Amino acid sequence: MKTRHMVWMGALLLLVSGCEQRNDADSGYAQWTQEVPGVWKSRVGVPDKVTLTSELTFTPKLDAIGEMGEADFPIEQTEIRFEQTDGKTYLRFPLDEGEQIYGLGLNFKTVEQRKRIMRLHVDHYGGKDDGRTHAPVPFFVSSKGYGVLLNVARYVDVYCGTGVRKDSKHPPVVRDRTTDPKWSAQPYSDNLEFLIPADGVEMVLFAGKTMLDVVRRFNLYHGGGVLPPKWGLGFWHRVPTRYTDQQVKEEVQEFKEHRFPLSVVGLEPGWQSRAYPCTYEWDNTRFPQPQQLIDTLAAQHIRVNLWMNPGISPESSVYPDIEPFTASHTEWCGAIPDYTIREAQDIMCRHWTKHQLDLGVSGYKMDENDGNDSWIFPDVATFPSGTSAEQMRQIYGSLMQHMLTNLYRQRNQRTYGLVRAGNAGTVSYPFVIYNDYYNHRDFITALINSSYIGVLWTPEVRSSATAEEWLRRMQTVCFAPIAMLNAWSDGTKPWSFPEVERQVNDAAMLRMQLIPYLYSTYADYCFRGIPPTRAMNLEEGYATNSVEEAGVLDTTKNPYALAVKRESKDQFMVGENLLVAPLFAGETERKVVLPQGRWYDFYTGELVGEGEIITVAPGLDKIPVFVKDGGIIPMFAPATTIDDTKRALVVRHYGTKASTYRLYDDDGETYNYEQGEYAYVTFKVEVDADGTRHGSAEQTTGTRLWSYNGAYDFQFMTK
Ligand code: GAL
Repeated sequence: MKTRHMVWMGALLLLVSGCEQRNDADSGYAQWTQEVPGVWKSRVGVPDKVTLTSELTFTPKLDAIGEMGEADFPIEQTEIRFEQTDGKTYLRFPLDEGEQIYGLGLNFKTVEQRKRIMRLHVDHYGGKDDGRTHAPVPFFVSSKGYGVLLNVARYVDVYCGTGVRKDSKHPPVVRDRTTDPKWSAQPYSDNLEFLIPADGVEMVLFAGKTMLDVVRRFNLYHGGGVLPPKWGLGFWHRVPTRYTDQQVKEEVQEFKEHRFPLSVVGLEPGWQSRAYPCTYEWDNTRFPQPQQLIDTLAAQHIRVNLWMNPGISPESSVYPDIEPFTASHTEWCGAIPDYTIREAQDIMCRHWTKHQLDLGVSGYKMDENDGNDSWIFPDVATFPSGTSAEQMRQIYGSLMQHMLTNLYRQRNQRTYGLVRAGNAGTVSYPFVIYNDYYNHRDFITALINSSYIGVLWTPEVRSSATAEEWLRRMQTVCFAPIAMLNAWSDGTKPWSFPEVERQVNDAAMLRMQLIPYLYSTYADYCFRGIPPTRAMNLEEGYATNSVEEAGVLDTTKNPYALAVKRESKDQFMVGENLLVAPLFAGETERKVVLPQGRWYDFYTGELVGEGEIITVAPGLDKIPVFVKDGGIIPMFAPATTIDDTKRALVVRHYGTKASTYRLYDDDGETYNYEQGEYAYVTFKVEVDADGTRHGSAEQTTGTRLWSYNGAYDFQFMTK
């Protein structure tokens, strides 16, 4: 309220002083209040009660933001303008020449968003970056070192550098199309404009010296990233929808025979007595003894994850209780609960607890909460709480994540699962987005985009036309937040293409070996807000993070400068030190753009280049992976399961630089780390004058270790 008053008072003052020309009382520039260094909030007009984050719970990591230091308000405050017309709120941010805009949802084909028009709308991705996607987060990140979240659960229109105003500061030259070859159908625009169908909007602005700092503040402000349970980082396999418990057991046995890693088995709709709509109760013909199945798998260190979607079947025992709390419209004839009502959440949570959590189910795949206009509740639907269908559509996936996260949290048990929709405020929720769209290249672009908007994405593998495509997809997914084969429809198995079975196994085993590195990477996501799988433009020495830098690089004569300025859609960072450059079916070689500094081949330790574009042709066996100079990678020996064994580590060092690395550890299962029950081991590599390297390890935080036995074998990969 206080902030809103300030807006009106500000507007009044401007009127009285007459120093600002305005059309009516409902326009002006936003007033910002600092929340914590580098983060400011503003409310213009009268924002909706239900926002993207109002129904969610998370604890902002303000201390961690504070540790990032001070940051100035990044642009002239008077350049952020608003107007209220026609019951809508219009917002405008300035754009400089050369400024790049990232974020604005989980896009699959584009990374840089300038010159694009979108309506941000939760939906199943339909093949076009038009704003309809699984996580259309209204958060943009500017290469000028700031980002803004529009915290509003509405379909927001975005004109990202397309509109040209009469009062533009940089008006484009008026040209005659008939005679002037320089005429352009899209004249230069210096605005980033939003139209929000609401009487007001809450905004949060994040500043940073780099775009990574902006993203980190955004993530930390919303609770910090997910720290998955350790088992979540192993290999996942989803079995065909009509499988019985016996078939599940047989398939698990086959994994053993093929010596293929397996940590999570996913059961698809057929585990339920009825699905589409759901009972959320076991089918007792296919699964007569669910407890026995879960226990048998648990004894082999394998967890069970269950598919579900939002619609509730009239045949479910929970139906009579939940029905009064459901919408006017259905989804596949199932009732849709109003999860903004606490009681509705409680009813469903009790049902899931009784039928699944108490049996040891590790988590869920929450499908189809992204909707698709022809199946989900329409925008004319009404909900008992009075929340509009439009708002519900924007937050339904977030609400489901919220409920399940809290349900597991109350048991002090970490879950990790899948979801088809998310939005702002879900960064700390342990769910990874996936979809039915299946373009390998676009899947990687989505992985890159996920890092700007505080969500996780998996380019899951399902089927392939050729052994080569199968292998390339498997090699990539093994670097994703969930390494998963989703055989719900095709019944594929990792060894479905025998000619590449060995290479697929190598990729999955590499994933298992990298778990100490990956787990530490996710600790950085949780405690420091650093996205685990990241766009190259968030990497130091790569991005043209400021307009000044962009100006220095002569992109016409210098292909490297051009490459880093262009959107990077097919290579990404994993953790602090690894750069992954997937190959796609049909390719025998590819170009890789290396950031500044020296880079080394992950497999051989050889120098590959330094701030340049290289071409690699690794053959079928390997996915190209590179390590930065001084990069330390802690690794396990190959193993098929994640269990409680304390193991030795191989600590690889690449390049010639002295460096340090912090290995994170905790119990991997509970939230006790939030009470300080965790450890860090610091690895240090020193380099003598003659180039000889020495490694040492010291436990710098905590007194115990859970996964490591204290044996660290340093391997200096670069000869
Ligand atoms: C789809 C989902 C698939 C699979 C299927 C089961 O919506 O994306 O992965 O779970 O439903 O019916």
